[in-house]
Amino acid sequence: MTDLEDLPGVGPTTAQKLRDAGFSDLMAIAVSSPSELAAVAEVGDSTAVKIINSARQMADVGGFERGDVILERMKDRRKLTTGSKSFDELLGGGFESQAITELFGEFGSGKTQIAHQLCVNVQLPEDQGGLAGHSVFIDTENTFRPERIVQMASAHGMEPEEALKNIHVALAYNSNHQMMLVEKAEEIAKENPVRLIVVDSLTGHFRAEYVGRGTLADRQQKLNTHMHRLLKFGRLNNAVICVTNQVSAKPDAFFGDPTRPIGGHIVGHTAMFRLYLRKSKGGKRIARLIDSPHLPEGEAVFMVNEDGIQD
Ligand code: GTP
Ligand code: MG
Repeated sequence: MTDLEDLPGVGPTTAQKLRDAGFSDLMAIAVSSPSELAAVAEVGDSTAVKIINSARQMADVGGFERGDVILERMKDRRKLTTGSKSFDELLGGGFESQAITELFGEFGSGKTQIAHQLCVNVQLPEDQGGLAGHSVFIDTENTFRPERIVQMASAHGMEPEEALKNIHVALAYNSNHQMMLVEKAEEIAKENPVRLIVVDSLTGHFRAEYVGRGTLADRQQKLNTHMHRLLKFGRLNNAVICVTNQVSAKPDAFFGDPTRPIGGHIVGHTAMFRLYLRKSKGGKRIARLIDSPHLPEGEAVFMVNEDGIQD
């Protein structure tokens, strides 16, 4: 991979400033805005434009693929069971690999519980709705509970210690760290069959760090980059991508409108499932599928109990 220092106009000092601000690779620079880059690297606007243009030329920005290659890849898509029949049916069989599924809802609506359940279920063989794989759990709120995994794994007759070994957990200290952990996940996936990546919560750090109207564009751009890398990870590894997003009943400036995809429309409809979760009577939960690419809108009722997610 190319070093930041290979970019014209970037010496060791500027490179360090960029890295400190989280611009650790060419892609991050390639998709940044000149004003953002000028501010963090402490260079003029025209230099920033030059740096960005060079980064765009040097970075692997995705490029074109032939249709038959895409079709082949799409044939490989798999479904991961939630543990609830009705929930699976809502999703056409379960969480889809090579796509991002966003769980959004209020506190306590079950986002983290579902994420834990997927980390267990992904280890099941394919004939039981799993993907016979490991998971990566990017935890931003110290929300991962091994003892909960033990309960859920035991309910499937798995060896709890083994189940825990197949879940790779990292705590993200801030949004830049969170983004870098996706690159780390790529290293883990080289050595292990990772079929699920969770980010719980996708939006927490971004929400805390970027406050005020003037920061919205930068925020959205960072989130887009983050989502793109997650999607790339999912495609490379045929993995399910599950991200959570806490939304409150009262709207806020940026994240408040739950009908709007977090990553904006850049991620694209074909790669995004959005599930709105809410609590119901008697410990029941309701999941509603919103503007899905090829599935009808609908709702599923499920339970969160001792053994995990069930009908
Ligand atoms: P935030 O992260 O605060 O936005 O909430 P969340 O949507 O992630 O909620 P979470 O998935 O943590 O759901 C919490 C709820 O799950 C609790 O209120 C319980 O109803 C249920 N729950 C969590 N752990 C257990 C458990 O061990 N047994 C049972 N029966 N229910 C549990
Ligand atoms: Mg949670």
